[in-house]
Amino acid sequence: MSLEYHQSKTIQLSARCKNDLPTVLDILKNDGLVALPTETVYGLAANGFSSAAILKVFKAKDRPANNPLILHTDNIEKASNLFDLSKIATKNRFLKLAHMFWPGPLTIVAKKRSHLPKEATAGLEQVAVRIPQNEVTNKILSCLDFPLVMPSANLSTRPSPTRAEHVLKTLDGRIDAVLDDGPCLVGIESTVVRIDNDVVEILRPGMIQPTEIETCLDEPVKNFAGVAKAPLCPGQSYLHYSPNVCVVKLYSKEDIDERWLYDDVIIAQKNIFSQKEKILGSRPKESVSIILNDDTLVFAQELYSALYQAEGYPKKQLSIVKPEGSEALAVLDRISRAVR
Ligand code: TXA
Ligand code: MG
Repeated sequence: MSLEYHQSKTIQLSARCKNDLPTVLDILKNDGLVALPTETVYGLAANGFSSAAILKVFKAKDRPANNPLILHTDNIEKASNLFDLSKIATKNRFLKLAHMFWPGPLTIVAKKRSHLPKEATAGLEQVAVRIPQNEVTNKILSCLDFPLVMPSANLSTRPSPTRAEHVLKTLDGRIDAVLDDGPCLVGIESTVVRIDNDVVEILRPGMIQPTEIETCLDEPVKNFAGVAKAPLCPGQSYLHYSPNVCVVKLYSKEDIDERWLYDDVIIAQKNIFSQKEKILGSRPKESVSIILNDDTLVFAQELYSALYQAEGYPKKQLSIVKPEGSEALAVLDRISRAVR
């Protein structure tokens, strides 16, 4: 059966088409790979109980084998069976978080049950689990008796996909199918929180804020100690998520003045473009301005599309102006990783 879905052609399926669901289930039950929509980004789904299927995910994405995957399920009972919740404090934290935030953009990392394939967790003692919020994907999960690993459905080091067309840009011919359900609502990956008996820690910022987790658990949460503490200056360099253009640089609102008259692609919020135009005049004719929403949540939704759009222009530099505002931490983290 799995030979039928061989890796040279990626079938394009639609969430609107009822007949496409059995095809998705068929592929997944036969260790194939399907990109599925979630509310955060599109994920590359495969049987999370099958080492063979998981190895195909690493190969299709060119993902280093030491980067563990998130297991996705559709209900709390199935999720709790993936964890070892024998420690009472861990169990209580898990139940509070799961009931408050699932289905939704939160991934919980905790001690794993021993039966899970080591390939999913990259050999770690802890496993990451999430219940996503997407009608068709949750329906698919409910029809399966195994969880799905779902890393973002992009080649490793490229931007995460928030539309089916982004998936095809980097994985066409490398996966069996993609299920199109339009643009993702959140637009950046889930918040990752680690819980064990002694500590609660944010491993990756996302749209669910540390303060929301603190309120839910009624205890302090160790915050993500990544990019927010580093100086956000031009030239900051990260490889992950880098779009396929020559130079990507991150600017503050103040520093972008120095790039305004260059032949760059500039991605910024609308209010920044209008402020700068008043002071500095129009940008050169050959330059490209990608205008994103002033609301940080909508900015996040549009960000990865803007990065893919920027790749379409043969320009020397992509300059991104960082957004301001309290929800910006996760967005800044993603932008910083696009910078190289
Ligand atoms: O929103 C999301 O989380 C998306 C959608 C498709 O669900 N998935 C996603 O997967 O972003 P991925 O593979 O691109 O990112 C998974 C993150 C990585 O940062 C990985 O290191 C971390 O979760 N992670 C996974 N398992 C872990 C573990 N056992 N311990 C610590 N971190 C883990
Ligand atoms: Mg990813």
